[in-house]
Amino acid sequence: MTAAGQGGPLSTSFERRQLEIAPVEAKLPIPIGWSAVLFSDELLPRQVVPIHAFGVDLVAYRSASGEVAVLDAYCPHMGAHLGHGGVVSGELLVCPFHGWRWNREGRCGGIPYSKQGRSDVRTGAWPARDRNGFIYVWHDPSGAPPSWEVEAIPEIGDPRYRITARKLWSDIHSHPQELNENGVDIAHFTTIHGFTTRGIDWRPDRHTYTLAYDIDPLETGVEGESRYWIESFTEGPSCTRTRFHGAIEGVTIHSWLVTDPGHVAVRSLYAFARAVSDEAARRVFENSQAGWSRDVEIWHHKRYRSRPQLVPEEAIVHDFRRWFSQFYAPPTRNGSHAG
Ligand code: FES
Ligand SMILES: [Fe+2]
Repeated sequence: MTAAGQGGPLSTSFERRQLEIAPVEAKLPIPIGWSAVLFSDELLPRQVVPIHAFGVDLVAYRSASGEVAVLDAYCPHMGAHLGHGGVVSGELLVCPFHGWRWNREGRCGGIPYSKQGRSDVRTGAWPARDRNGFIYVWHDPSGAPPSWEVEAIPEIGDPRYRITARKLWSDIHSHPQELNENGVDIAHFTTIHGFTTRGIDWRPDRHTYTLAYDIDPLETGVEGESRYWIESFTEGPSCTRTRFHGAIEGVTIHSWLVTDPGHVAVRSLYAFARAVSDEAARRVFENSQAGWSRDVEIWHHKRYRSRPQLVPEEAIVHDFRRWFSQFYAPPTRNGSHAG
């Protein structure tokens, strides 16, 4: 930590430069919003799964009736990890250590050996949704309830579509803002992805934005299924989807999660119309993931620049960052972020 980092003056340009390129976790807090912590079928009825998200240990379980819950991992009684040996009994999660039961709201649902019956003690319960093939969890360091819902994507569950692929990037050294910013970073499309946009139409609206690219139709390389185009929709800091139109009808859904400060896991799911051949679906998936690989290589090694040296054609990056800042908790009085 430099003197500057402790609130002292910046004495040298070297010191200023070091601060400017600090690791992303030192510059950007974990944003408020929904993140996918699992694929839906990684949590079957009566299944209990330990998860690590937002820098803390959590436990996810699905009740006998199919409802999903996410609780703090460590039992308030004597600290057992509910995700290691905990079992589901009906709608409740039973701690492996002494059998205390917890419901989806984090209330004690019974103590098997006590005349007291139950405790008023509560454990942390995290808002969770099973939607679009993912389990999403809401993160807000203030504990406030969700201020929006994850959009339900109609293709998922529609019999005219099928999920053809999914992908997990388990540990990218980056941050949701950096991943999200990629969509408005026009110049990198040419250098990293090999196509050039004549322009982009970025339309922010509260916690969402739509993004359309002025590009020539894309090619799958499969005869009769080649020309398609894309438009994307983002909601919150960590959820985005891209729709495919033309010869390829389908949708890809991506969500990223801060597992620990400076570390991101990305889950992606690809769903295409049944009319799209397996070969075309496979090529689109492979092309898409090849693009992700090239982005990941950059994100994983880069440093976040809070004052990037942009040219006028890139002014949208400033607009994007202003939009993204809505997902940061207001600074507390001592200047740090809550949580
Ligand atoms: S530690 Fe969970 S019941 Fe005792
Ligand atoms: Fe990219």
